[in-house]
Amino acid sequence: MAQKVKFVETVLRDANQSLIATRLPYTRFEPMLETIDKAGYYAAECWGGATFDVCLRYLNEDPWERLRKIREKMPNTKLQMLLRGQNVLGYSHYPDDFVKLFVKKAVENGIDIIRIFDALNDVNNIKVAMEATVNAGALASGAISYTTSPVHTHAKYVEMVKELKRMGAATICIKDMAGIMGPQEAYDLVSAIKDAVDLPVDLHTHSTTGMAFMTYLKAVEAGCDIIDTAISPFSGGTSQPATETLAYALRQLGYEVDLDDNQTKKIADYFKGIRDEYIADGTLMPKALTTDTQCLAYQVPGGMLSNLLSQLKQMNALDKFDEALLETPRVRADMGYPPLVTPTSQMVGVQAVRNVLDGKRYQTVSKEIKAYCRGEYGITPAPIDPEIQAKILGDEKPLEGRYADTLTPIVDATRKKLEGIAKSDEDVLSYIAFPNLAEKFFHDRKIREENEVTYTITEC
Ligand code: CO
Repeated sequence: MAQKVKFVETVLRDANQSLIATRLPYTRFEPMLETIDKAGYYAAECWGGATFDVCLRYLNEDPWERLRKIREKMPNTKLQMLLRGQNVLGYSHYPDDFVKLFVKKAVENGIDIIRIFDALNDVNNIKVAMEATVNAGALASGAISYTTSPVHTHAKYVEMVKELKRMGAATICIKDMAGIMGPQEAYDLVSAIKDAVDLPVDLHTHSTTGMAFMTYLKAVEAGCDIIDTAISPFSGGTSQPATETLAYALRQLGYEVDLDDNQTKKIADYFKGIRDEYIADGTLMPKALTTDTQCLAYQVPGGMLSNLLSQLKQMNALDKFDEALLETPRVRADMGYPPLVTPTSQMVGVQAVRNVLDGKRYQTVSKEIKAYCRGEYGITPAPIDPEIQAKILGDEKPLEGRYADTLTPIVDATRKKLEGIAKSDEDVLSYIAFPNLAEKFFHDRKIREENEVTYTITEC
């Protein structure tokens, strides 16, 4: 029997986030939801990541309502979200009661699969979210944040995967956020994971460096079960490789693919128009769609390079770019080789720039790096350079155990605080995640609803 390859469509979340900074309002993709539902995808990634933040910050949308509407239009396809472990959808750790309620409500509102990762690959930061996912009856996808370094061996990844399985993972995801995984690495790592655990493996990569098609092909040869792709008009560059292209090539090679080409063509035709509009108004920049091999040379993700550039530009120090670029991997090594993903990529990049501009390393240190050295982000892949850690912490001792254990529960207190303002636990969760944005959203919603009432009365 032919080996089956399943597809996760990312146009609603990762492709949307990587190409147009998550700016697609619900109303723009709504007309395609029923078609996506009929196309035969294993899952549609549609929530989490930056969608929640952007819904409240820029689109004046209730992220929970968006999820419920997607669910209603897509009864047959699994809905998937991305969750940053103990960070949930934010940038620092939350108390466990928030993590648990958030996961429970995400599932109640329609999520089937929660992909959970931690920026440091510290499983202690994945555990609570995973347990909550299993308790809510959804599928937990335990994710590895993929990176390369002297301490990131396949043996270590396999060890992590076994732990994820013990914790209740239904699938394993290899999350290559920077698109730096080459075809041979994919083949070897997927083989090693498949040998170690009997769970479906999902590979997630980006086209940034141009390797993604080859990487997926070799991963599939090694037995990879699920791949993440984006419908062609929203594919390539910093997004995923194209859904239809992979379906075509994999079928030609004898693999079984469940996708319905008539439906994917309809989806592609529709999103072509949307893509062209975003190109015309400047939201989708041509640079995002090109191939950028710099990250292969510097082992620095593409997004970080542009952040470095803009930071130096602001400080009138563009001539220091080469120096900052060389300093980045050194800071990363000092910090114990964290994978460069939100939020560690920002922290390492900012510190590298500081070191170069000060002319003296770790003269000034951000409060995030200080918290990192205290252990507030979890256990680092390798130990932090002890001398540097001591210099940054001074008399302070690094934390023992899990940072979230030191945090006070937050849900009940926030429920009380928002009495008369929050209409549901979902509102309370939005507020804990993004207090200022949620407050503004509640205010705007109230005005909208008052206007609606007036309108109904006039109608009578
Ligand atoms: Co991604």
